[in-house]
Amino acid sequence: MQLSNENEKQLAADTGAELVQDGMYVGLGTGSTVAWLLPALAARRLELSCVASSPATEQVARKLGLRVESFAGRGAPAQLDIVIDGADQVAPSGWLVKGGGAAHTREKALVAAAERFVVIVSSDKVVERLRAPVPLELLEFGLAATLARLQTVTLRDVPRSPDGGVIADFTGPFDDPAELAERLSLTVGVVEHGLFPPELVSEVVVGRGEKVERIPVHDGATRSPDS
Ligand code: 5RP
Repeated sequence: MQLSNENEKQLAADTGAELVQDGMYVGLGTGSTVAWLLPALAARRLELSCVASSPATEQVARKLGLRVESFAGRGAPAQLDIVIDGADQVAPSGWLVKGGGAAHTREKALVAAAERFVVIVSSDKVVERLRAPVPLELLEFGLAATLARLQTVTLRDVPRSPDGGVIADFTGPFDDPAELAERLSLTVGVVEHGLFPPELVSEVVVGRGEKVERIPVHDGATRSPDS
């Protein structure tokens, strides 16, 4: 990992933290960029209610003094004001690949409930076009049949997701992320995939050298991965 990469992640994360306002319900992503976000957010000492996309994020956020609530069950918040998270790839169209840290199912659940989704990345994440691997979470039940349906998929040697899902990557070639997203969503046994459409993304904050670039993507207030 290059040092300049980390500087860019920190710059993007600091800008993301500045977008949060007192009293907000905040969804926290997962990964090394979010690792910069958490202390920056905690340092602002705002009155916040947070929900976390992974046990790792939850643990660090709590240690830093952020209030973290559960997002499970009927008693959880149904709407979030903002989600801030990293990404593995960001295309010029605003499509993302996420899930390098295997948390894409919970991340998408947070984003789908949020008014705003702010993506924080270092400049190396901005690509001309998206490519495999596309992270997947698969149902254990019927796994062999699901793998046969997907054909080009590799199982990751990592623990199950907190929801018991098997983590894998779609490795086949693709041109159109919308087409692949639809195919994966329609494949029985795929719990969730790591393709996030532009309709879910409010803006991308890119750390580039010593500067931060803010790229607006979509301003829709009501968004759903299926819309
Ligand atoms: C985790 C994710 C991360 O946001 C993505 O993998 C980027 O991680 P990092 O900030 O470490 O580069 O989707 O599931």
